[in-house]
Amino acid sequence: MDFQLTEEHLMIQKAARDFAQMELLPGVIERDEHQKFPAEQIKKLGELGFLGMMVSPKYGGAGLDTISYVLAMEEISKIDASASVVMSVNNSLVCWGLETYGTEEQKQKYLVPLAKGEIIGAFLLSEPEAGSDATSQRTTAEDKGDHYLLNGTKNWITNGNSASVYLVMAQTHPEKGSKGINALIVEKNSPGVTVGAKENKLGIRGSDTHSIMFQDVIVPKENRIGEDGFGFKFAMKTLGGGRIGIASQALGIASGAYELAVKYSKERKAFGKEISQHQAIQFKLADMATKIEASRLLCLKAAWEKDHHLDYTLSGSMAKVFSSETAMWVTTEAVQVHGGYGYVKEYHVERLMRDAKITQIYEGTSEVQRIVISRSILA
Ligand code: CAA
Repeated sequence: MDFQLTEEHLMIQKAARDFAQMELLPGVIERDEHQKFPAEQIKKLGELGFLGMMVSPKYGGAGLDTISYVLAMEEISKIDASASVVMSVNNSLVCWGLETYGTEEQKQKYLVPLAKGEIIGAFLLSEPEAGSDATSQRTTAEDKGDHYLLNGTKNWITNGNSASVYLVMAQTHPEKGSKGINALIVEKNSPGVTVGAKENKLGIRGSDTHSIMFQDVIVPKENRIGEDGFGFKFAMKTLGGGRIGIASQALGIASGAYELAVKYSKERKAFGKEISQHQAIQFKLADMATKIEASRLLCLKAAWEKDHHLDYTLSGSMAKVFSSETAMWVTTEAVQVHGGYGYVKEYHVERLMRDAKITQIYEGTSEVQRIVISRSILA
């Protein structure tokens, strides 16, 4: 067993850290306050290859491993989780799904610009009445011979307005349940696609979350991913890797808050000494560091399994549930270490605490992860 990162891993980690410090930190408070999508920063992330990290260079990607992706996600998320969610969705849910299951034509037409970051994508599974219960898709893709007719509404769609390409799950054969669902590539500018109002969220406020409505949208048959009825399995397989991305996002939010808490504890004085000299604070920092390290190891183990073509469903869900709960706990403690200063925006930790919450909800709630874990261990 080798816990050492390679030179290349360290280089990628540093590149992501530098980018976060130089490009994301300035303006992060204002973007959060005004719910401003980090468009310029996302463009630059794309130019540096961070939006198609694991895609083969043949399709315009950086050709890196999942370990590199975890390291980069942690660094970007330390500073701006609204930017890292764009990175996570584009890499894990959109590019990975297209590269793994798409046809050569689909890859040339959609994957190449997505991997180069020229455009971004979105993953449309959730519906007003199908969140955790993802098999209950009400959006329909009626088979019309050479095309599908798409009708319905999707909810909580990350990159909803900024994406050019949507991967949409929709029901074609309701009598077949989960085996009747198809995954379709839909261009946002297709007639009949309407983007709803931007959600006013608690956290990741810079990210672009919308409902998307489809009314008689014509989707050519060649835009279906995989065989007829493969859509639910496609969604589950894709979310398996997505959970490693969100686990790493949670890890980054936690480690960002921890680093701020350590720094503050060495500066702030109370009762005649730095608060880091008080055992009450030392114990908090020790617990934070321990939980963060455990999260990091779970994320890297899941990534290693993915890179070695092993089944990473269990490790990805374990990483996601543990890291997201760690993020919520660590960020709350980081606010506590900061006292009253932690409750105001300039010190960043209140934003990280708000951002942490979503990691327990999207790409499968903590409850869904426990379903996946318990099914796996009891099988
Ligand atoms: N890989 C392959 N196939 C899988 C699978 C997996 N990981 N998980 C399930 N399947 C298959 C099952 O084998 C089954 O097929 P068979 O009938 O052939 O055996 C079929 O899919 C149906 O599976 P289940 O009976 O297990 O389905 P279920 O209704 O019990 O639900 C669930 C299982 C785990 C709860 C699933 O619905 C789930 O993961 N829900 C959460 C959905 C989710 O994560 N949504 C996030 C939205 S995307 C998002 O948040 C992105 C963003 O914007 C940031």
